[in-house]
Amino acid sequence: MPADLISGTQIAEDIRTELKARIANLKAKGVTPGLAMVRVGEDPASVSYVSGKSKASAELGIYSETIVYPENASEVEVLARISELNGNQRFHGILVQLPLPRHIKEDKVLNAIDPLKDVDGFHPVNVGRMLIGEPYFLPCTPHGVQELLVRSGHSPEGKHVVICGRSNLVGKPLMAILVQKKAGANATVTICHTGTKNMAQITRQADILVAAMGSPRAITADMVKEGAVVIDVGVNRIPDATKKTGFRLVGDTDFDAIREKAKAITPVPGGVGPMTVTMLMVNTVRAAEMRLAAPRQN
Ligand code: GUN
Repeated sequence: MPADLISGTQIAEDIRTELKARIANLKAKGVTPGLAMVRVGEDPASVSYVSGKSKASAELGIYSETIVYPENASEVEVLARISELNGNQRFHGILVQLPLPRHIKEDKVLNAIDPLKDVDGFHPVNVGRMLIGEPYFLPCTPHGVQELLVRSGHSPEGKHVVICGRSNLVGKPLMAILVQKKAGANATVTICHTGTKNMAQITRQADILVAAMGSPRAITADMVKEGAVVIDVGVNRIPDATKKTGFRLVGDTDFDAIREKAKAITPVPGGVGPMTVTMLMVNTVRAAEMRLAAPRQN
């Protein structure tokens, strides 16, 4: 029997419905959650992601502004804007879309964001808090993967989760989230990466296999255990002349073949993608709630 599809679109919708009540509660107390997004340059994927985040904010009644800089903007300029946004009460959350142009140092920019407004969860303070199990904000994509698993009835508790990919955006934080001794986590976690020998031997031991290498269809059916749950974080654009855009999206897994073997799998698109945006909304609302509970200067 083909694997069940885990619909990120549906689960994201459920979470957004829950969020609406929290936003209404904040508004009743005179607070509208505010999100500032900074984009530098015109990378097509970044343009599309930021526009999706802006649309999701509007649909939920979250106030958002997108600040766009040209590709040749200076690091100083961007840092000055972040400093202004840190002090601007209108915004509870600040996000700088990655990747940045090469002449702008990513770590410098991420370190400049006030950790209490860091709704991406990328500031070293937030990375550290996540690792010790006391997060302000969890990074959106890995947190979305955890929510997908739990809400689709495939809790990682006690399972062997194998993550392929060790990025700071997905692989490493997902490991830090799922290894915690907490409900919805408490998993045995293995990370595979480009230095891993005999990767297939390890991925075949996974109860839950997470593909997050950014390599189109790199996980093939022979790498998957019969009955495993497969989460595909990949979003790869591959040329497709039949599409108006000239491309289509594929994940990091060979979806059609794996579907015949796995118990459940996320589609691309419609799997992890909608969860990333939704968890950003969750973090923005949380930032507003935290400030309301513990007011400070900004
Ligand atoms: N680029 C790819 N994913 C992300 C993300 O989750 N947040 C930001 N800011 N940039 C990204």
